[in-house]
Amino acid sequence: LSNLNITIEQDTSLPPAKKVKIDQSYKLVGERVKVSGWIHRLRSNKKVVFIVLRDGKGYLQCVLSGNLALAQQTVDLTIESTVTLYGSIVKVPEGKAAPGGVELVVDYYEVVGLAPSGDEAFTNKVAEGADPSLLLDQRHLTLRGETLSAVMKVRHAFLAAIRRVYREEGLTEVTTPCMVQTQVEGGSTLFKLDYYGEEAYLTQSSQLYLETCLPALGDVYCVQESFRAEKSHTRRHLSEYTHIEAELAFLSFDELLDHLETLVINSIKYVLEDPVAGPLVKQLNPDFVAPKGPFMRLEYKDAIKWLVEHDIKNEEGEPFKFGDDIAEAAERKMTDTIGVPIFLTKFPVEIKSFYMKRCTDDPRVTESVDLLMPTVGEITGGSMRIETTDELLAGFKREGIDPSAYYWFIDQRKYGTCPHGGYGIGTERILAWLCNRFTVRECSLYPRFSGRCKP
Ligand code: 4AD
Repeated sequence: LSNLNITIEQDTSLPPAKKVKIDQSYKLVGERVKVSGWIHRLRSNKKVVFIVLRDGKGYLQCVLSGNLALAQQTVDLTIESTVTLYGSIVKVPEGKAAPGGVELVVDYYEVVGLAPSGDEAFTNKVAEGADPSLLLDQRHLTLRGETLSAVMKVRHAFLAAIRRVYREEGLTEVTTPCMVQTQVEGGSTLFKLDYYGEEAYLTQSSQLYLETCLPALGDVYCVQESFRAEKSHTRRHLSEYTHIEAELAFLSFDELLDHLETLVINSIKYVLEDPVAGPLVKQLNPDFVAPKGPFMRLEYKDAIKWLVEHDIKNEEGEPFKFGDDIAEAAERKMTDTIGVPIFLTKFPVEIKSFYMKRCTDDPRVTESVDLLMPTVGEITGGSMRIETTDELLAGFKREGIDPSAYYWFIDQRKYGTCPHGGYGIGTERILAWLCNRFTVRECSLYPRFSGRCKP
């Protein structure tokens, strides 16, 4: 058998092939189709070649036999080469599994682009178990893997779900600026940039801008990148992340918590109901249980007691006391032990931001909330906001911030103030919880963190 003598030609007597994406092909048993994609897996037993084709919409098992399997063109195929295959969709035999329950019996195919073999082969570039930093250099290739691409599909469904809930709850979407001249969450994590000779920053949070939208548009939200020059390498901090933020007017702290609970429960419910994302969550996180309301509500002062009782120490290795920041490790231990979503509320003024409203019954603490999820910890931070100019100016003073750049934000208190509050959700954090990922880096397309700004 000489491979070189075999030419691959299309049999023109066959019915015309319908051009489809892989997910559509599953329903076309008995029909002749044309599908294009990347060779995800390749296996041959001399007489028959099996290809798993990938096109981003699904995976399709394809079978080449006879001359098609023997031709030199087929012998030369490599993983990640692109091909256009023509053939009939058939049901896989009883007891055999394949994506969509079907396979493509190929009658003709064309090579679109041959990927390298040998040292340059795809499998050498993204070898399993390779150093994570090498894999991050090859992020453009690792994205093609089953796990990362599944997380990105769940991410897509989650962002669609969150927008659906906001629509149902009557919030309007706005697009806030990324280049700003104000800080929101502390000067130490600001990315500075030279803006035509003036100092500017990459935004840490769109909150202040959202607050200015309330009188114009009512309740609002945005899905915008936020930037934090985090010095520490942790599994839940990125330098750039997708921040889902909302701001609501004329509501109480309890109403804010109720709204947040509805948002989280319904958006997760919609993801799980999604025909693509639902099964992917099951695959990534088989033990995932959809959260049910009402969420546990735990005041900061009671969390401190809980930490002391459970012998969990603060950053200095001492027992926790009122006023301590509950840092990542302790927070995670507490959340994992309790094992359910927790609204941790009423943090002391000193450990929170300048804009947070004090509680009327205890001015040492604020109407603030972190939503904590098992395995990840904090996924959301929010609060009610200070309503009067004087109190806001005192907040700036306490934090050592020059208020002059904030004139437009202060004006909100001058031209018709109102009780209002909002929150920010870290998209990659909620996904890490939903998809059971060890780090938020796995939930970002091209993660940025200290030391990594490429590709
Ligand atoms: O708690 P944070 O800092 O709150 C704010 O920025 C408020 N201004 C939001 C608001 O009220 N509109 O951040 C909110 C959330 C956190 O709970 C976390 O999920 C995420 O943003 N986050 C990060 N995610 C990844 N990497 C980082 N470096 C993050 N910093 C915060």
